[in-house]
Amino acid sequence: MKHLIDIRDLTQAEIVSLLDLADDIVAHPEEYREKCHYKKLATLFFEPSTRTRLSFEAAMYELGGQVLGFSEAASSSASKGESVSDTIRVVGCYADIIAMRHPKEGAPMVGAMHSTVPIINAGDGGHNHPTQTLTDLMTIRREKGRLDNFTIGFCGDLKFGRTVHSLIAALSRCENVNFVLISPEELKLPSYIKKDVLQEQGLPYVQTTDLTAVMPELDVLYMTRVQRERFFNEEDYLRLKDSYILTPEKLQNAKPDLSILHPLPRVNEIDTAIDADPRACYFRQALNGKYVRMALILKLLEEAQHEH
Ligand code: CP
Repeated sequence: MKHLIDIRDLTQAEIVSLLDLADDIVAHPEEYREKCHYKKLATLFFEPSTRTRLSFEAAMYELGGQVLGFSEAASSSASKGESVSDTIRVVGCYADIIAMRHPKEGAPMVGAMHSTVPIINAGDGGHNHPTQTLTDLMTIRREKGRLDNFTIGFCGDLKFGRTVHSLIAALSRCENVNFVLISPEELKLPSYIKKDVLQEQGLPYVQTTDLTAVMPELDVLYMTRVQRERFFNEEDYLRLKDSYILTPEKLQNAKPDLSILHPLPRVNEIDTAIDADPRACYFRQALNGKYVRMALILKLLEEAQHEH
């Protein structure tokens, strides 16, 4: 059974094929309206979400399928102490594919070990978020026309930012991508990612606390939120939350074709005055998420069907 737990579960060719399919769905949505007739997607969200859950649900509806699930652990039997593995075994009796978000790192992988249907990791704690990465790659490719030969700056919470971890893993397989890691000291990229992904492959990266200084070099700027829910104490969160606020003034030295991405939700880190700037891609990015999740559901269901 093929699942998507980590972006590295997909080969580069499979990623490109998914992005091609997503682009085709954008161009010809009517051809996909009945593709998942009589199929059901379960969305099991043990942690809050707007984009990921609703774009998965919209994706399934636009493919002609149906959706069931829950949006918080409190309304599921997890609140009575049911394990992830039992939940997954049971939901596999009712649905053909499962998208699952969980605050504990590794929970979707545990689910996949006990599942008879494909499991998609819709975000596990501070670890991974592979469908956000597919969304980000689709956005970079549509905005820039390529997935190679650019400099990307990751700014904000690089320590707990699962979207950052997954996207760095994916871009490490692309040609000539330079990484600029911009964060406060306390929120630097975990050393296991630097070591296993960047240093292991000899990829060029720099670390800095100064967004303004590196702005002129960037082709893509990936802003992130400092995530209150990942901090052990409120004081640290309050001290760090406004470390970076992107304003029109800070973009004065930016390239005219810079692409500004953000997985969203945003709090203060991008001034709303930037939303009207054509370089702001984050709402287009959120829309791309629906199409790439349509592509992923189609591919995983097709593969599951071949296995039976
Ligand atoms: N980008 C993202 O995962 O957003 P949600 O938390 O709203 O799903």
